[in-house]
Amino acid sequence: MRQKNTISGRNRLSNGNSPKEKSPTLKILFGDIRKMTSKEVADGEVALIVTSPPYYNAPFDYPGLYSSYEEYLDLLRAFASQSKRVLGAGRICAIVTDDMLVKEEDTGRGKKYPIVADTTEVFVREGFSYRDKITWVKPAGYTRISRRSGVVLQHPYPMYFYPDNIQESILLFQNGEFDYGHMKSLSPEAVESSKIDTARLNSEGWTMSVWNITNVLPMSGRVEEGVAAFPDEIPSRLIKLFTYAGETVFDPFLGSGTTLKVARELGRKGIGYELDLELKDVIKKKLGLDYHRWTGEDFSIEEASGAKNLRKILQSKVQQQKSVVA
Ligand SMILES: C[S@@+](CC[C@H](N)C(=O)[O-])C[C@H]1O[C@@H](n2cnc3c(N)ncnc32)[C@H](O)[C@@H]1O
Repeated sequence: MRQKNTISGRNRLSNGNSPKEKSPTLKILFGDIRKMTSKEVADGEVALIVTSPPYYNAPFDYPGLYSSYEEYLDLLRAFASQSKRVLGAGRICAIVTDDMLVKEEDTGRGKKYPIVADTTEVFVREGFSYRDKITWVKPAGYTRISRRSGVVLQHPYPMYFYPDNIQESILLFQNGEFDYGHMKSLSPEAVESSKIDTARLNSEGWTMSVWNITNVLPMSGRVEEGVAAFPDEIPSRLIKLFTYAGETVFDPFLGSGTTLKVARELGRKGIGYELDLELKDVIKKKLGLDYHRWTGEDFSIEEASGAKNLRKILQSKVQQQKSVVA
């Protein structure tokens, strides 16, 4: 359903110079990222991708979503190829992801899938350069993890050790060389408002390859309930570190809409792609889009190819899950 289509033209990387571009635009598409077309998101249109793909068949979020790991890798390959197409030259694709422990149907035991390594392999193979990896560390009391360390506590002997996981990876891939002369094509206001606060950078430890950031707590009644959302702080840091004001940030696995919410707050434009139609109300609520009549905000919501209802099915499966230990 098209709610409002105010997007005029699909320019390559906008430089925030034209007055028309000053108010950031939000564009939300419901569909399968594998089927995204250049009419929806144009070649080279995007300055930064910030995203977190589904966590394979994660017991608490996506049980049984993929029939095999190979099918999941195919999704990552399509995501890498779409990212290469839509990103501007030298720009960054930032992926929040983690290896996943999934219970095997036949043995009933947990099997660990090397998703971080495989995502890296898929993106490098697609032609990206591997720029960096940041480790996102959550508070030690994070309640949603499987308490795998209980095994060695019950059997305090060698070979019973499995650690509790309180980290995820933020992988940074770069699409070729960035032209640092780009800054000269921007307005002085765009450059000034994009300046990074170095005092904060130092005091909050953004300069390090380990970021300590509290996760979104899985409390019932939260707008992000059941979505595996990342905290605002992650897109906030990445958007400030890798885009100029007025440029476009894209999240191909939009979930509850965190990336777009933060992009808008920081004066960037946002495009989001999401498979699950049942997240439409969640996204609208998180972005306050029902109030656009009063704010006059420029946004569009469209249904594209492959969109489907997913959330209720997954949540009923989640309720039947038990923690996987080993
Ligand atoms: C880990 S969640 C993203 C959460 C998001 N970062 C947030 O803060 O809310 C991954 C999302 O990808 C969506 N998804 C899964 N397969 C997809 C596909 N083929 N195309 C587009 N979205 C997909 C899921 O429905 C889910 O909402």
